[in-house]
Amino acid sequence: MQVTADMRPLDVLADFPAIPSGWAYLDTAATAQKPRPVIDAITRGYGETYATVHRGVYQRSADMTLAYEAARARAAKFLGAGSADEIVFVRGATEGINLVAQSWAVSQLRAGDRILLSQLEHHSNIVPWQLAAERIGAHIDVLPLTEDQRIDLDAMAEMLTSRHRLVALAHVSNVTGSVLDARRAAELAHGVGAKLLLDGCQAVPRMPVDVGALDCDFYVFSGHKLYGPTGVGVLWGRAELLDAMPPWQGGGSMIDKVSFERTTYAPPPGRFEAGTPHIVGALGLHAAIDYVEAIGLDRIDAHEAALVAETRARLSEINSVRLFGPENSAGIVSFGVEGVHPHDIATILDESRVAIRAGHHCAQPLMEALGVEATARASFGVYNSADDVAALVQGVERVTRIFG
Ligand SMILES: Cc1ncc(COP(=O)(O)O)c(C=O)c1O
Repeated sequence: MQVTADMRPLDVLADFPAIPSGWAYLDTAATAQKPRPVIDAITRGYGETYATVHRGVYQRSADMTLAYEAARARAAKFLGAGSADEIVFVRGATEGINLVAQSWAVSQLRAGDRILLSQLEHHSNIVPWQLAAERIGAHIDVLPLTEDQRIDLDAMAEMLTSRHRLVALAHVSNVTGSVLDARRAAELAHGVGAKLLLDGCQAVPRMPVDVGALDCDFYVFSGHKLYGPTGVGVLWGRAELLDAMPPWQGGGSMIDKVSFERTTYAPPPGRFEAGTPHIVGALGLHAAIDYVEAIGLDRIDAHEAALVAETRARLSEINSVRLFGPENSAGIVSFGVEGVHPHDIATILDESRVAIRAGHHCAQPLMEALGVEATARASFGVYNSADDVAALVQGVERVTRIFG
């Protein structure tokens, strides 16, 4: 295969001890492998510098508090947030969306209000809204997709009404890799007075994100998809929105003063971080952000775009392959092979040491719209190269030979 400039490896494979030679790991959209600096930060956090945060008066705890808060400041800078106080550490995107649904939506929306989602959302950006809507008596509307499976913003312009209070959309789809025109979505949402939440799980690992430039109101992502640890993620919210939100979980750390007569709460972000947080997770996330920014998100974006273009071009040469999503998808290619269940595709690829995901990808409403039960999905990361694309294509050719 001819290797174009952008398909040159980023030369970081050696940073990833869990990727053995000759294994094509193409499941980064599920979770990214971890580079050595992240593993080292976690090892150091537990093995050298460990103590609790925000409570201890001894030096070790004060130092750990500084490190934990430095991670928050790093996440704020990474997202272009106005202040570190706008960064709430959560377990991941799922928890971040549930927090906004249970705190912001339940306190701000009234019976009859409407929430707008799209057909391609991850279950994490559907079910929390269903739970909240049930509590409120609100309604959920669903944006259709364009022919190439992008969120249809023309339809959004027509569907939005003054009863819509919230629009929650994937910045990048975890199935099709389609990239939302977030600025236009924000403009449309704000035009009717609705807030915009962006699910940035698949965007932050593969493109620069600036919440100010996107003009959204809430942004969530998971650390583990950004080469960081599991169990930690970020909810960014505009300061004035977070300020007005009630706590959603109670416990230590989130209070100002507790008595049986009346308890008052800490200002954000502490108000939303009840209990002992994932201290070392935050340190790992800090290292992960440093890592991707040292490579450069523009470079990662260009690299993955080249791998996607090559994958789509090569797979489209195989007659029985059906490709999903737009041509310019970000880092993710979903496909099917006529007459073959995606699980069989993934199993046969595994025999050739190519790891892809097969299934509904936690997006059953999207599967319904595509008219399939499942897809096969290859997703790229900084460690992938043209060799991995070649291994994938050879594996799919083998699938077609086996199934005649
Ligand atoms: C687009 C998108 N949203 C939300 C999630 C949920 O992330 P997590 O399970 O880390 O909370 C995922 C994970 O697959 C995702 O890809």
